[in-house]
Amino acid sequence: MDKILVLDFGGQYDQLIARRVREQHVYAEIRSFDRISLSEIQNAAYQGIIFTGGPNSVYDPASPHYDPKILDLGIPILGICYGAQLLAYMGGGMVSNAEHSSEYGKTLVTIQEHDLFENVPQESVCWMSHTDFISTIPEGFRVLAVTDKCPCAAMADDARQLYGIQFHPEVTHTVFGRQILHNFLFNICHCAGDWDAADQAHRIIAQYRAQYAGKKVLLALSGGVDSSVAALLLHKAVGPDLTCVFVDHGLMRKDEGDFVENTFRHTFGVNLIRVNAGDRFLGKLISVSDPETKRKIIGEEFIRVFEEEARKIGHVHALAQGTIYPDVIESGKGASAVIKSHHNVGGLPDVISFDEIVEPLRDFFKDEVRQIGTMLGLPSELVWRQPFPGPGLAVRIIGDITKDKVAMLQDADAIFREVLAAAHPKEMPDQYFAVLTNTHTVGVMGDARTYGYTVALRAVSTDDFMTAEWTRLPYKVLEQASNRITNEVPGISRVVYDISSKPPATVEWE
Ligand code: XMP
Repeated sequence: MDKILVLDFGGQYDQLIARRVREQHVYAEIRSFDRISLSEIQNAAYQGIIFTGGPNSVYDPASPHYDPKILDLGIPILGICYGAQLLAYMGGGMVSNAEHSSEYGKTLVTIQEHDLFENVPQESVCWMSHTDFISTIPEGFRVLAVTDKCPCAAMADDARQLYGIQFHPEVTHTVFGRQILHNFLFNICHCAGDWDAADQAHRIIAQYRAQYAGKKVLLALSGGVDSSVAALLLHKAVGPDLTCVFVDHGLMRKDEGDFVENTFRHTFGVNLIRVNAGDRFLGKLISVSDPETKRKIIGEEFIRVFEEEARKIGHVHALAQGTIYPDVIESGKGASAVIKSHHNVGGLPDVISFDEIVEPLRDFFKDEVRQIGTMLGLPSELVWRQPFPGPGLAVRIIGDITKDKVAMLQDADAIFREVLAAAHPKEMPDQYFAVLTNTHTVGVMGDARTYGYTVALRAVSTDDFMTAEWTRLPYKVLEQASNRITNEVPGISRVVYDISSKPPATVEWE
C-alpha cells in the first residue's frame, strides 16, 4: 500500500491535506516534523512527502525546520506555503517579507506547463494566505508559476523531485487544487491509488478475527457514530466474544435508547447489555442546576455503572475504544498510543482489568468512519447522527432536572426534528435541537390562562463546531414546529428561536 507522509509544520490545514490525499485513494498519515526520525521515514517507504504550511516565518530562530538529509532520501517532496518557503530558504534561496504585497484570498495564478500542472489551465484561481514570499529560488529550481505580486507562486527541481507551491491546493477555493494534488500523487510519486477505507475495514476485520477470536472484548457503546462503527467492526470480527455495554442514562432523545438497542441486538445480533439507569442518574441529579456539576455527576456515574457491568463479565482481554484519527493527531500528533478520555465518559474505568486497548478506527477520519459504517450496513440515522452531548438532555434542561421535564423536552425536540426532516430545507443545519428554558410565561388556551414553559429551538450551521452560525430556517418550518409543540406538548406555552452565533454564544445553552 502506497503511503504519503504529511509532515506537519503547524499548519491549520494538515488534516485537510491528508483527507484530500486519501480522497484520491492514497493513504496519508500526518506526523509532526519533530516527532519522526529520518530512519523512520526511510523505513516506512513513503511514496511522497508533503510539507504543510505553518504560522512561522522561516527566519524566526524558533521556526520549525526539517532535517536537510530528508532531501537526499530520493522521495518526492511537495512543500505547501510555509513548506515551500522552507524548501527555498534551506536550499539557499531567499524568502522576503511582503508587508505591502502580502496575498490573502482568491488570487489569479499563471502557470507553466509541467507534470504538476497537467490538466490545469494556464490561469486559474488559487487560495493564497501569506506575508512572506520566495524572492530568490534556490539553485537547481525553476519558477513554475507567478501571480501579479508574487514572483514565485510555484517552483520545481525536477532532478531531485522537489516542488514548492505558495498557494493552498487542499482548500476548495483553489479551483484546480484537487487536480494539482492528483498530479503530485500520480505523475510524480507514481502512487497506485488503491487505498480505500472500506477495504481497510475488511482487512481489520480479518486481522482482529485472527488476533482476538476466543478472547473477551468489551466496548462502551453510546450510540454515537464512532462507538457504533467500532462495535460493528469488532462484532464482524469476533462475534459473541464482543460484549457491548450501553448505559442508558435516561437523558437521550425520544426513543433513541430503544433504537440503539434494536439496531445492535436485533438487527445485527450483537451481544449487548443495556443498562436502564435513568432513575439512578436522575436520583444523583436532584436539585442540581449548575451545568458543570451536572456534567461531572453524569460522567462519574457513567463510569460507575459501566464498571459494575464489566465486573460481572470478569477479566476481559481487550477494552475497545472508538478513538478516531483526529483524536490521535490532536493528542500526541500520532506519536504514542492514545486513550480516549472523552468528557462524555470522564476517562477510563479503573477497576476493570484488561490486557490491551483496541482502537479499530484510529487510522480513520470521520467521513471514512461513516463510509465504513455504511459499508457494514449501519442505518443512516446512526451513520449521519448529529452530534449529541454525552450528558445528553441534562445540559438542555436549564436549571434542575425532573422526569417530567425530560419527557416534555423529548417530545418538543422530536417534533422539531420531525418537522425539519419533512420540510428538508435547502440549508439543513449541522445540529438542531430544542432546549427547555427555565422560564414560565403566560399564555391562553381556549378561554383559560396558562403559565407554561418556554422552549427555545436551536439550529446551527458549522464545519467544525468551534464556530457556528445560527441557521436561517424558513419561517414555515419555525411556524410548524411552534404550532405543533404548543399544541401537542402539555406544559409548554411559548416557543422562541435562538438567533445567536458562536461566538459569542455556544451551541449548547449550558
Ligand atoms: P458548545 O456548546 O461548546 O458545543 O458550543 C460544541 C459541540 O460540542 C457538543 N458538546 C458536548 N459534547 N459532551 C459532549 O460530548 C459535552 O459535555 C458537550 N457540551 C457540548 C455540542 O453539542 C456541540 O456539538
